[in-house]
Amino acid sequence: MTRTGSLALALLLAVSAPARAQAPPAPGTAPIQADDERMLPVLASHGMVSSQEARASRVGVEILRQGGNAVDAAVAVGFALAVTLPRAGNLGGGGFMMVHLAARNETVAIDYRETAPAAATETMFLGPDGEPDRAASTRTGKAVGVPGTVRGLAEAHRLYGSGRLSLVDLIAPAERLAREGIPVEAGLADSLPRASGLLGQWPSSRAIFFSGDRTLQRGETLVQRDLADTLRAVAEGGPDAFYRGPVAARIAAAVQGAGGVMTEADLAAYRPETRLPVRGTYRGYDIVSMPPPSSGGVHLIEILNVLEGFDLAGMGAGSAAALHTLAEAMKPAYADRATWLGDPARTRVPVKGLIAKPYADALRAAIDPERARPAEAVKAGDPLPFEHTETTHFSVVDAEGNAVSNTYTLNFSYGIGLVAEGTGVLLNNEMDDFSAKTGARNAYGLVGGAANAVAPGARPLSSMTPTFVFRDGRLLLVTGSPGGSRIITTVLQVIVNVLDFRMNLAEAVAAPRIHHQWQPDVLLAEEGLSPDTLAILRSRGHKVKVGPSSGSANSVMRVDGLLAGASDPRQRGTLADGY
Ligand code: GLY
Repeated sequence: MTRTGSLALALLLAVSAPARAQAPPAPGTAPIQADDERMLPVLASHGMVSSQEARASRVGVEILRQGGNAVDAAVAVGFALAVTLPRAGNLGGGGFMMVHLAARNETVAIDYRETAPAAATETMFLGPDGEPDRAASTRTGKAVGVPGTVRGLAEAHRLYGSGRLSLVDLIAPAERLAREGIPVEAGLADSLPRASGLLGQWPSSRAIFFSGDRTLQRGETLVQRDLADTLRAVAEGGPDAFYRGPVAARIAAAVQGAGGVMTEADLAAYRPETRLPVRGTYRGYDIVSMPPPSSGGVHLIEILNVLEGFDLAGMGAGSAAALHTLAEAMKPAYADRATWLGDPARTRVPVKGLIAKPYADALRAAIDPERARPAEAVKAGDPLPFEHTETTHFSVVDAEGNAVSNTYTLNFSYGIGLVAEGTGVLLNNEMDDFSAKTGARNAYGLVGGAANAVAPGARPLSSMTPTFVFRDGRLLLVTGSPGGSRIITTVLQVIVNVLDFRMNLAEAVAAPRIHHQWQPDVLLAEEGLSPDTLAILRSRGHKVKVGPSSGSANSVMRVDGLLAGASDPRQRGTLADGY
């Protein structure tokens, strides 16, 4: 059986059982027993790391064993993934880290999203015909935003680390993996051949990822000596070793050599922002997620608010009624995204209005329980006064209940494919997340508006949705995912699967997902949903397209005094591991 076929079967088994006769116990309260569950999460007592790459997960667990807290472990995982998952783990990209500090009962959001260089202009991605030039915003030096990851991870360590482990301790495992090399297997063996065209156009990237005229094959070894040297420099010199001096000079030269406008001054000026998370409630649980410049948290809460008025549990997981309701709740949120969302430093984002319960009441009232609304009939509201796996998400919880939910990215798989000569650093193409022009679509088909125009120093709008769920102030769930525009709906469905459908975490992560982003007017469905269900959805007017799986929702949940971890079976080589 093919991997897709076996995944589809597993997913089908996960959800095709009839709705359970009795309401199961509240999420997180009952022990998970091997004989009464169809799919099982990993269990541990002291700490848990769930990431898209097994070596990086083990690095995180080792840091926890050494006495590091969840933030220390997350920082070590972030640096390790830059080596072991080069398609998305990165030093040359950016992301968001949600941190929960149990002793202080405080949750913060660290925004280390890339910024537009100072010389960026609103029209820089328009061709001579005035239309968006997709090649410029995805494949050239102009596509590269000023990277935020190194300062972001270092800031997380400085502000919220345990103080027991230094940056040298946290970076050492990544440096070793880069210097000694890692076998090309699992997700790396899957992704390298697909990135052959992107990586192969740059000699500096060929020198690392190619053997002769083809990308490294399964069973060969990926050695990244320049990256090891860059990691050593950051470990010893702190983030300034990346943002100033020879590494910064090489990054700026590489970007300019590829037609971009980033300068050493842009790198020296980069700063992460610590932000207040966006907060909502869903059926008595607290949802705490990433605020703008991510659209993720706002629209996750907006959709959950709409869903709160429906009896999803009564409809049943995977039923046509539940999937119809989910799709209809997703559409208006994506319409709002296109109009209202952008960098809060440059545009007023009406967050409070978008996540207000009365606003959701109005959106809910427009949903016909029997018929799909065409996208043209859905407009951005007036809130009250296929995709790929470029991004990556990991979740960490430690013995004290501290937690990290981190999503970071190069945008496309391997970014623009360009390694800055002599640094080992792959560069992002995050500038494509800006709107080249009002109404134009980006790589994910997402429509953008003036609120997300390119401007010097601006942060491009994101969908990354690192999220915590709490019950009565106590952490229950840590989740998030890659998936471009599908990130928000992936996180949504993990939450609904746990809270409404009472799935255990492994089932919740594995269950087939749907996605509707308003435009294009297509209901995407993963394999594993029954043909009968899809036929009912089509009869209700949905333009259903069964397509590739999406996401890697590597999650951790507290269950009956233990930590349950689940990594996403949609990718090879993922691992939830604990001790
Ligand atoms: N680059 C994908 C996102 O930030 O949403």
